[in-house]
Amino acid sequence: MFAVQAHGHDIQTVEGLSHGGELAPLQACFRTHHALQCGYCTAGFLITLTDFLSHNPDPTEQQVRQALTGNLCRCTGYKNIVEAAMDAARQMRAKGEAAA
Ligand code: FES
Repeated sequence: MFAVQAHGHDIQTVEGLSHGGELAPLQACFRTHHALQCGYCTAGFLITLTDFLSHNPDPTEQQVRQALTGNLCRCTGYKNIVEAAMDAARQMRAKGEAAA
């Protein structure tokens, strides 16, 4: 999107996901599940999934894959990314947390 399209809206970046130096559950799950290699795509995946999980805290794997159709990763093959998302959703439900 163009920057002008965001005028007047709140913007969340990957830098704003962690709190007090502690990784957000989704970020921690990316690390645990080795859901990144070069990291070029990771910020986009984290922001997409943060928004998706905030609206759908109990997704199916197919819904996660559908949510990620606009994100490309040349390294991981997506399997670990989807596993990280599913695990993060489980952890956040167990703790009663929203994604963002
Ligand atoms: Fe390298 Fe996704 S981890 S492009």
